[in-house]
Formats: sequence, structure tokens, C-alpha cells
Amino acid sequence: MLGKPTVSTIVLRYQENQPEVSLSLRLMPVLGLILASSAALAQSVSPLSVSSDEIEPPSLERGAELWAKCRACHTLEAQGRNIVGPRLYGVFGRKAGSVTDYRYSEAMKKSGVIWTPENMDRYLAATQDYIPGNKMYGGLAIAQDRVDLIAWLQQQTSR
Ligand code: HEC
Repeated sequence: MLGKPTVSTIVLRYQENQPEVSLSLRLMPVLGLILASSAALAQSVSPLSVSSDEIEPPSLERGAELWAKCRACHTLEAQGRNIVGPRLYGVFGRKAGSVTDYRYSEAMKKSGVIWTPENMDRYLAATQDYIPGNKMYGGLAIAQDRVDLIAWLQQQTSR
């Protein structure tokens, strides 16, 4: 992490509307290659469809970096443990609140949500508005971050 901007710095700078940060990153030839190959990979995991012109195709590279915001509380592996939150292996297509050895809030169990990429996008955008009273806070305020992370999660939670 030392020596290059961390995810949170990048996110912070996005929020401060300094598009030159992303621009200068994109101009780096090496990263450009990574982004290009990520985009190609992403097509095979049916990325979240979004309507805004502002949104770029998912970057699995950035998705992997953004996982830093979740991994204190979640694991991804089939045999992964529950930490503060439930393991996310196989989460797509699953009913919310259905990992049997994890104690969910009543709100999550009764939500009736199925975790499609679109529903996960809504949840991460506003966790408490989408499922009021559930016990996860935070999420990802920036739409592009959600697109990137959800594409990466689709790949990682189904291996
Ligand atoms: C501080 C801990 C914490 C962090 C960080 C966190 N979560 Fe959670 N997450 C939880 C808890 C706790 C729950 C269970 C909520 C409940 O039962 O009401 C949860 C539930 C979930 C669920 C529902 C799972 C299911 O089986 O229904 C998803 C999806 C999820 N989190 C995704 C994420 C993603 C993606 C991130 C990173 C952007 C993230 N979480 C970051 C604590 C966290």
C-alpha cells in the first residue's frame, strides 16, 4: 500500500471532484493494460447493468482493491468463517439472511431480498434505507465503486 494511493485516498479525491486523479491513473500504460484485461474478464461475469453515461465498464482490478472495505467483516471462500458479517460465498442468487450458522438481524431475515447484482447495488448504496434496521452500516457511496466491486464479487464468490 505504501508508495501508491490507497483506495480510500482515491475515493476521497473522487469525492472532492478531482477527475485528474483517475485520468492520470488511466494514462499509466501498465494500469491501462490491467484495466483493459479486467474489462474483458468482466464481460464473462455479467456485470451489473447501469444506465448512467458516467459509469464505465467494471474494473476487476479496482473491485479487488475495494474489497479492503469489506474484508474486516466478511470472507469469500466456500469454507470461509463468519466474522462480524456472514461469509459471502455463493451470495448471488441467494436469499438475504440465509447463511445458517450466522445470526442475522430480524430485519435482514425478513427482508425478502434476493441478492442479484442490482439489489446488492441498492443495498451498498444505502444499507439502512434499503433494509431498514439491518445491522450493517456503511457500504459504498460512489456508483462506479459499486459497479467495480460487484463485478469482482461475482467472480470471487462463485469459484
Ligand atoms: C463493520 C463490519 C462490516 C463491513 C465493513 C461490511 N459488512 Fe456487510 N454485513 C455486516 C453485517 C453485520 C451483516 C449482517 C446484517 C444483518 O444481519 O442485519 C452484513 C451483511 C452483508 C450482506 C448480506 C449477506 C447475506 O447473507 O444476506 C452483504 C451482501 C454484505 N454485507 C456485503 C458487504 C460488502 C460488499 C461490504 C464492503 C463494501 C461489506 N458488506 C462491509 C457487516 C459488515
